Amino acid sequence: MAETVLTSADLILPIFIHDREEILPVPSMPGVSRLSIPALVDMVGTARDLGIPCIALFPAIDPSLKTDDGSEAWREDNVICRAVAEIKRQVPGIGVLCDVALDPFTSHGHDGIVHEDYVVNDETVAALVRQAVAQARAGCDIIAPSDMMDGRIGAIRQALDEAGFDAVRIMSYAAKYASAFYGPFRDAIGTKMAKGRLDKSTYQMDPANSNEALKEVAFDLQEGADMVMIKPGLPYLDIIRRVKDAFKVPTYAYQVSGEYAMLRGAVDNGWMDERVILEALMSFKRAGADGILSYFSIEAARRLRAG
Ligand code: PBG
Repeated sequence: MAETVLTSADLILPIFIHDREEILPVPSMPGVSRLSIPALVDMVGTARDLGIPCIALFPAIDPSLKTDDGSEAWREDNVICRAVAEIKRQVPGIGVLCDVALDPFTSHGHDGIVHEDYVVNDETVAALVRQAVAQARAGCDIIAPSDMMDGRIGAIRQALDEAGFDAVRIMSYAAKYASAFYGPFRDAIGTKMAKGRLDKSTYQMDPANSNEALKEVAFDLQEGADMVMIKPGLPYLDIIRRVKDAFKVPTYAYQVSGEYAMLRGAVDNGWMDERVILEALMSFKRAGADGILSYFSIEAARRLRAG
């Protein structure tokens, strides 16, 4: 009688990498580490063998390579591009999704180029286009702009097509909220601001808004997004349902770092039963998501396999 089914084919595994040999645990995300490229290749092989169809890559960039304009983002042999090429060479049969945004690469940690305390839209879009084309050239299958600038989906689609990458798909982070649930992620990629808080509320969405999410999704679809994403996940299940009902397009949810930290911490401390992991993932599917980005993907796929 089950109306909803969760399988390993619903999962996308986000992975943190860095350009170093050691494997560095992320303290606020027990069980998650920054990997070297060889360790990444192993993990991607494990994911593929468990039936996970796609992974998502996020870099922790050496502080010496970070600049105000984030230009490391479009250097063609940066760590992301080399990692993608290595996966494509060694692990056939699994998709690779790359995040497009400047935050891992900028000295200030914002997703775009800053002028006088403000992230400027159009100059940032031009930079994102260069980043997306570099990633496609490295072999990335899905470009996922997470920056929330206006007009970037259309600009990236046009640039990808002109460069001959018409088969590269775009998953837009269409409704991305200015959320404190991203805290552990900012530890993982090293963008937590030393002083004060990194406030992205001039370009990410107000958690109070729901109609606005539909507007953002409509723009991105008009501009050529193949799939849309809502983020964070669990506190925004209502948005997933509204988007799915309104547009009926491939709709994804990101169970973000803070959601992982909450569940992981509670399970590891014995405060909640480990069944909460699959229950939370199932809730995304019930809400209408076609797939879920989750740091639990490998563990969840193993649990699903064990039955
Ligand atoms: C950056 C980006 C963020 C996440 C994915 N891409 C953080 C942010 O916007 O500050 C968050 C993912 C997570 O918390 O797991 N553009």
